Amino acid sequence: MSAEPRHSPGGSPPSRRPPAFDLVLFGGTGDLAMRKLLPALYRRHLAGLVEPGSRIIGIARTDHSTAAYVALAEAACRQHLGDDFRADAWPAFAATLGYARLDATRAADYAALGALLGDRGEVTRLFFLSTAPDLFAAICGHLAAAGIVTADSRIMLEKPLGEDAPSARRINETVGAIASERQIYRIDHYLGKETVQNLLALRFGNALFEPLWRRGQIRHVQITVAEQLGVELRGEFYDRTGALRDMVQNHLLQLLCILAMEPPATSAADAVRDEKLKVLRALRPIAEADALLKTVRGQYRGGVIGATKAAAYLEEPGVAADSRTETFVAIKAEIDTWRWAGVPFYLRTGKRLPEHVAEIVVTFDQVPHSIFEGPFSSQPPNRLVIRLQPDECITLRILAKSPGEAMRLKPVDLALDLGESFKGRPLEAYERLLGDAIQGNLTLFMRRDEVDAAWRWIDPIRAAWDLDDDGPRPYAAGSWGPAAASALIARDGFAWHGEL
Ligand code: BG6
Repeated sequence: MSAEPRHSPGGSPPSRRPPAFDLVLFGGTGDLAMRKLLPALYRRHLAGLVEPGSRIIGIARTDHSTAAYVALAEAACRQHLGDDFRADAWPAFAATLGYARLDATRAADYAALGALLGDRGEVTRLFFLSTAPDLFAAICGHLAAAGIVTADSRIMLEKPLGEDAPSARRINETVGAIASERQIYRIDHYLGKETVQNLLALRFGNALFEPLWRRGQIRHVQITVAEQLGVELRGEFYDRTGALRDMVQNHLLQLLCILAMEPPATSAADAVRDEKLKVLRALRPIAEADALLKTVRGQYRGGVIGATKAAAYLEEPGVAADSRTETFVAIKAEIDTWRWAGVPFYLRTGKRLPEHVAEIVVTFDQVPHSIFEGPFSSQPPNRLVIRLQPDECITLRILAKSPGEAMRLKPVDLALDLGESFKGRPLEAYERLLGDAIQGNLTLFMRRDEVDAAWRWIDPIRAAWDLDDDGPRPYAAGSWGPAAASALIARDGFAWHGEL
C-alpha cells in the first residue's frame, strides 16, 4: 500500500499549484450553491487559485442559458461577498461558468453531460451533490451508466447524509458503488472553519497542552453552538430533522472528536480520521431511561432576541402545528477511554438563542490545596475558552494577585484574538473545503465509518425520545433554552459558560 501524502490540515502547501478542474455542481441553482459555493469559488479565483482552463458547470432541472446562469451567479456573489466582490475580476471568473439543464432521473440527459465534459485528460473532475439525498441514487446510477465517473473523479457530498444509520448506509452504498472511498469527500463544513483547524494547531503544535489534556487535569468540557436564527425558509426540512440530526450528529460530534482524539501520527487523512473514529466508538451509549437523564430537548416559543420579536417554532412556515421536533438539545456525553474516563463533555446547541456563538470551554481541575487565605471556592479553576464564531479567539483564564496590600487572587484572561494577531483574511469553510477536494486532500472530510459511528450513537437517543410521552420542553426565543438544560449540568456541580 502506498504511503498517504502528508498534507497540512488546512490544505496543500501554497507552493503547489492546484490542478485545473471540471466541477459539476448538482443543485447548481440551489441555496447552497448561490449562498456559499459560487462565492467561495469566486474568492478562490480572486486569490489566483482557479487554474486557467477550469470549468464550473451548474446543473439543475430548470432551463437557463449560460448567460442567465452567469447573471444569477453574479447577483449571488455580489450579495454574499459585499465589499469583497471585485467587478474587474468577474468576467474572467464568469468565463469558467457553464450551465446544463438536467433531469437527475433521466438517463438520456447524462449523455449530454458526458459530451459536455468530454475527455480532458489531466483535468480533475469533481461532482458536487448538493441535492436532496433521495436523488443521490439516481444521480450516481446514471453517472456510472453514462461512464462519466473516471477512476480519478471525486464526489463531494453535502449533508444531510441520511437521517439514521440505515439511511446513511444506503447513501454510502449508493455512492460507494460508483467510487472508491478515496474518491468520496463528505462535507461537514465545521471542519473547514479556521478555528477548528486552530484547535488542531493548539493541541498538536504546542507541547504545553498535551500533558494536561486528560482526566485528572481537566474537570469537564463544554461545546456550545448557539444560533439566533430560527429555521428561516427551511421549516419543512427542519421539522423532519431536528437539532439532534441537524447539528449534533455532525458538527458537534466532529468538534468533540478533534478535541478528544489521541494525537495522530501525521496529519494524513486516515491518520486523523482513524483517531476521530476511535472517539466516536468510545462514546458511552445513551439509550432508554438514560436518554431522559442525560439529554434535554427543547422547542422555542415566541420571544424577543435583542430588540427583535421572534415567532414561535410552531408558527414557522412548513412546521406542523403539533410538531414535537426539537430546536434545542443539551447532552451529557462520556468517553470511555483511559484519557477521558470521568470527564463529562456537555454538548449544547439550539436555534433562537440569545447569541450567535460557537465555543469550546475546557475547565481544568482546581488546585489540590490552597495556600492563600479566603474560601477555596473563591479560586475558580483555570479555563480555556476556544471561540469559533462570531470572532475567533482563544482565552486562558488564570488567577493572578489583584493589586493592593492583601494577597487576593482574581481571575484574569490571557486572550489571543486570532483576527488581530494574523491580519490575513481567514478562508471561508467552503473555500477551503473546495480547495482541498480539488487538491485531493481528504483530511477535513468525513470517512464512511465515522458517519456510521456517529449515527449509531445518535439513533438510540432519538429512539428513546420517540417513546417518551413528553415532547420537547418549551423555551422562550431569546433565552438559553429550557431550565432543564441548566439543571442537567448543575447536577454535576457545574454551570454553562456564561451562566455564572
Ligand atoms: C447547518 C445546519 O449544517 O449549519 C443549519 O443545517 C445551521 O441549521 C448551520 O444553521 C450553522 O452553520 P454556521 O456555520 O452558520 O454555524
